Amino acid sequence: MTTQEQNLPVHIGIIMDGNGRWATNQGLPRSAGHKKGAENIGPILEHARARGIKVVTLYAFSSDNWKRPKAEVDTLMGLFRRYMNEDIKQLQEKHVRISFIGDRERFEPDMIKRMNEIERDTAAFDDFHVLLALSYGGREDLIAAIKKIAIDVLDRKYLISNIDEHKVHNALSTHAVPYPDLVIRTSGEQRISNFLLWEIAFAELYFTPIYWPDFNEHDLDDAIEAYGRRHRRFGNVTP
Ligand code: FPP
Repeated sequence: MTTQEQNLPVHIGIIMDGNGRWATNQGLPRSAGHKKGAENIGPILEHARARGIKVVTLYAFSSDNWKRPKAEVDTLMGLFRRYMNEDIKQLQEKHVRISFIGDRERFEPDMIKRMNEIERDTAAFDDFHVLLALSYGGREDLIAAIKKIAIDVLDRKYLISNIDEHKVHNALSTHAVPYPDLVIRTSGEQRISNFLLWEIAFAELYFTPIYWPDFNEHDLDDAIEAYGRRHRRFGNVTP
């Protein structure tokens, strides 16, 4: 086992950015970039699993992305619908657990139904877990968690003084998975954009200029290798 394999992230979050610029650079409509971006998900997930990663969270659509022009939102909805009805079956056949995080009530009823079915049908798979963040915002998720905790306190399940990190984690949509160890953002932007705010407090951040449709297995290896070279101290000092 190499050093880098000993120091492997368990959970990787990916901000899949740059579909639009990838397409524009090729003289194609932005929709072509999203389509190519969607096609890239399967191979990257497969490679992550082969590398021994246990959880991958993909930021596919933020709560702010609804503000995009209707035509682009419609294109993305078409891709999500197709992904949930077709492509996702390949993940299910490979026993991948799939969860959706974000405000699913904003989607059409048929998509909400599919999300619920996919989660139910894959709930027992425990080797590799993929979370798809759709209509997701870290602040919104924290607000939802605060409301749940407030209700628990009103229901006298526990005292305000007993609210701790564990209770907050449990109230978040990511409660079933450990916090991300590594967050990758493609396309050269160096910001978090409301992704998993609470959960990434100690995550290592990796920014690459490569646009998401071009991000391949070797690029994922590079990110995992870079992670392996980092020294995580969680506020402590190096022993
Ligand atoms: C960011 O690129 C990407 C998105 C807002 C959408 C992500 C969607 C996919 C990767 C494809 C569909 C996903 C699934 C789950 C089927 P951008 O459009 O902001 O690119 P830009 O910054 O270059 O304009």
